[in-house]
Amino acid sequence: MNIEKIKSDKRLPKHIGVIIDGNGRWAKKRGMSRSMGHKFGFENLKKQIEFVEQLGIKNLSIYCFSTENWNRPKEEVDYLMQLFEEMLDEYKNKYLDKDVRIIISGDLNDERLPLNVRNKAKELIELTKSKTGFILNSCINYGGRQEILSAVNSLISDNLKSVNEQQFEQYLYTKDMLPLDFIIRTSGEQRLSNFCPWQSSYSELYFPKVEWPGFNKKHMIKALKVFMRRNRRFGAIKG
Ligand code: IPE
Ligand code: IPE
Ligand code: MG
Repeated sequence: MNIEKIKSDKRLPKHIGVIIDGNGRWAKKRGMSRSMGHKFGFENLKKQIEFVEQLGIKNLSIYCFSTENWNRPKEEVDYLMQLFEEMLDEYKNKYLDKDVRIIISGDLNDERLPLNVRNKAKELIELTKSKTGFILNSCINYGGRQEILSAVNSLISDNLKSVNEQQFEQYLYTKDMLPLDFIIRTSGEQRLSNFCPWQSSYSELYFPKVEWPGFNKKHMIKALKVFMRRNRRFGAIKG
């Protein structure tokens, strides 16, 4: 695998979205608990974030926990919250002295989220808000419809009567990010499950069969190659 060659390819996506999926099934196949699947999934996440950053891709969004995921058993939700707290600590240790901006998309005022997760997330957003390098956006307690609704409600409270697309985007979590070029969802499921409905309107979609804990650098390279072969037309006639 020739990393340097891929890195210098102008067709690379600038913003990748990853819908982590299949942790539970991956664990079940191996006789482990679903929580263990999440643990391995988060270990893999660290590696993939590093790899994407290393490739020079400017923005990465990761769907970690949806507003619908509260419907899961309490034990699993509690374990995921524990992992998110660890993840935020890790981001702090690893990225604070680098040119990396951390965004956490999702309702951080929701009292169902542990206070530590809420506070650590808010702290990281604040501490890194003026960084101009790689942007790492983790979606926790995120729902795309809720994001749009909350944008509309903010518009109303700002007394705005009408806005264009650019102005509307200023009310989204992704306001400082590049267009979402490419969405990868592992485990073979072919849906977006409330991930970035506004931002994904022109994203290329890719659904590899492999479950998230097994999605390695080779799978990432393959995904990028698939993306680079796509003919993006945006309604025009090209290629
Ligand atoms: C994705 O894996 C992780 C989260 C949604 C937090 P799943 O937990 O959805 O795994 P499956 O789909 O049940 O296998
Ligand atoms: C989507 O995965 C949510 C996240 C990846 C955080 P799910 O596994 O919860 O989605 P559905 O229920 O299969 O649509
Ligand atoms: Mg799933």
